[in-house]
Amino acid sequence: MARLTGKVALVTGGAKGIGNAIARRFVEEGARVALAARTIEQASAAAQALGEGVLPLALDTTSDAQWRAAIDAIDQEWGGLNVLVNCAGVTIGASLVDTDDANWNQHMDVNLRGPFMGCRAAIGLMGRDGAPGSIVNISSAFGVRVTPGFAAYSISKAALNALTRVLALECAAQKLPIRVNTVIPGGIETEMFEEELRRTGMERDKAYALFSRIHPMGRIGKPEEVAEAATWLASDASSFTTGVELAVDGGSTIRT
Ligand SMILES: NC(=O)c1ccc[n+]([C@@H]2O[C@H](COP(=O)([O-])OP(=O)(O)OC[C@H]3O[C@@H](n4cnc5c(N)ncnc54)[C@H](O)[C@@H]3O)[C@@H](O)[C@H]2O)c1
Repeated sequence: MARLTGKVALVTGGAKGIGNAIARRFVEEGARVALAARTIEQASAAAQALGEGVLPLALDTTSDAQWRAAIDAIDQEWGGLNVLVNCAGVTIGASLVDTDDANWNQHMDVNLRGPFMGCRAAIGLMGRDGAPGSIVNISSAFGVRVTPGFAAYSISKAALNALTRVLALECAAQKLPIRVNTVIPGGIETEMFEEELRRTGMERDKAYALFSRIHPMGRIGKPEEVAEAATWLASDASSFTTGVELAVDGGSTIRT
């Protein structure tokens, strides 16, 4: 039985990687999906690949005006919103002292201020009809076990975890039927991972061997495995779960 039938979902960073896998899984599970990407061309191409009825949206998640326009477009199209997945993210490795202002600002803008503005913009529409709502923030194992060499990234994701808990408690205190949770991926085989290989010049085999050691389960994860966790959090099956960090990381955040 489809787990998201009747739900309307917005997925940011939906054109590729983990966001695309989540959008795909949500469609398979019966949701009506608004697929957001930085440009309408990217969003339209990805939406088309997922079939009929996926709404492409241009949404640079660092723009509050674009967030509000996206939420309005969903309201006009479907008259409500049940699920928001904040997946858009960036990672540019640098140690703290080597982090320049541009690196710092980009991480904070995309990984933290974007989801903040998204939650703020979405929550009015999500809470409007009293239907259950679910916000899923895609964070990172680096935000739990902060990682040297990824200073601003780790800090932005740790702050996103804190944002999630704050909002979960505030929604509960206000008796809003909106749950707010984080998924904590470990190393996942996506373009982001490939980009890090290019940036560091690390050989693929060595990188895979390294990540396999970091993950006690001895391998790298797949976008579909993250999509599965996001689907459970988005669905009513997780109706008593809020404020959690659900790790999909082969055990890396609990390793000693
Ligand atoms: N791949 C991994 O190993 C890994 C591990 C842990 C966490 N994550 C997190 O998962 C999420 C998705 O990462 P991915 O691996 O699929 O990477 P990816 O590079 O394949 O996808 C990132 C997406 O975010 C989009 N994006 C970036 N800046 C944006 C902006 N300002 N507005 C709108 N979209 C923007 C990109 O266009 C892209 O579609 C990120 O938040 C990332 O931090 C990834």
